[in-house]
Amino acid sequence: MWFYTGEERNSMEKKNIDWANLGFGYLQTDYRFVSNYKNGAWDEGTLTTDANIVLNECAGVLQYAQTVFEGLKAYTTKDGKIVTFRPDLNGERLEQSAARLEMPIYPKDKFVEAVKKTVKANEAFVPPYGSGATLYIRPYMFGSNPVIGVKPADEYQFRILTTPVGPYFKGGAKPITIRVSDFDRAAPHGTGHIKAGLNYAMSLHAIVDAHKQGYDENVYLDAATRTRIEETGGANLLFITKDGKVVTPKSDSILPSITRRSLIQVAKEYLGLEAEERPVYLDEIGEFAECGLCGTAAVISPVGKIVDHGREICYGTEMGPITRKLYDTLTGIQMGTIKAPEGWICEI
Ligand code: PLP
Ligand code: COI
Repeated sequence: MWFYTGEERNSMEKKNIDWANLGFGYLQTDYRFVSNYKNGAWDEGTLTTDANIVLNECAGVLQYAQTVFEGLKAYTTKDGKIVTFRPDLNGERLEQSAARLEMPIYPKDKFVEAVKKTVKANEAFVPPYGSGATLYIRPYMFGSNPVIGVKPADEYQFRILTTPVGPYFKGGAKPITIRVSDFDRAAPHGTGHIKAGLNYAMSLHAIVDAHKQGYDENVYLDAATRTRIEETGGANLLFITKDGKVVTPKSDSILPSITRRSLIQVAKEYLGLEAEERPVYLDEIGEFAECGLCGTAAVISPVGKIVDHGREICYGTEMGPITRKLYDTLTGIQMGTIKAPEGWICEI
């Protein structure tokens, strides 16, 4: 068996990209995976270099937004391997999202295989270890045949695109300022717990408005009572109490973040911290010592300030010490410098 050192692999046929200065944007890579669902079955799927999709004007996705997606990343580890983080959980969540929108299930083991194939084909775009960038992987599925009455499509396409990315928020680890939104993102018994494009369409006006007012993101409240913290447009939240306990909001209408679920385990098993998932009330957020957003894209982005109309809650101008420990441990596991729990790292 032949082994490459990290440096050898980093320099192998990599694309000439300014990795350190990448933002969170789309940069077309060479290959994407495509599989079609027709007459009740998925085909084998294949890699293609064609980044364009041609659809009928009446396709289900165009008329009634029948689309779900996932987000995960590929990393180059210190010893030069390319890995992804818990892709089985993304596959599981895509199954749940598809079921809620009456779409066929793309089985999670085939999902993981397709992710591996796509990343492998785009190896030259996987940012080198230590560059601060990663390869973002976006699996998605949509209704592709014409639908005019309100009903699910009969035909679907599952695809995986990849794009190298840098930090989700400009400024990287600099704490962000978020505001409590007057808009709601998800209704009780609605679709907030799945990763459907429609949830993000709902948040576009609110994010454009937040940016206009100088905020980085919106925090949404529970739509029924508007007393509990839910999540932001693209990440879950976590808080640290003054005595060093991790608290994350529990709700049926937020996305079950894989990053958050992993951080709870990291907090308990690696850092010996208490970690609790429970309803978090808007009127208690002033009592926390630290706050951060967590998600695949956000990793852990420290929150410096939450603005709730006239009220400002400040968590400091630097990433807090417990948030830092969580960040370092999680990214250490992802980049191969800290031993991962069984099954978390999937080598490409
Ligand atoms: N919440 C929302 C609304 C998201 O879009 C994401 C991103 O995937 C998350 C939370 C974080 O989930 P994960 O950690 O699985 O990426
Ligand atoms: C992710 O973190 O993967 C997401 O889908 C969030 C999105 C806002 C980029």
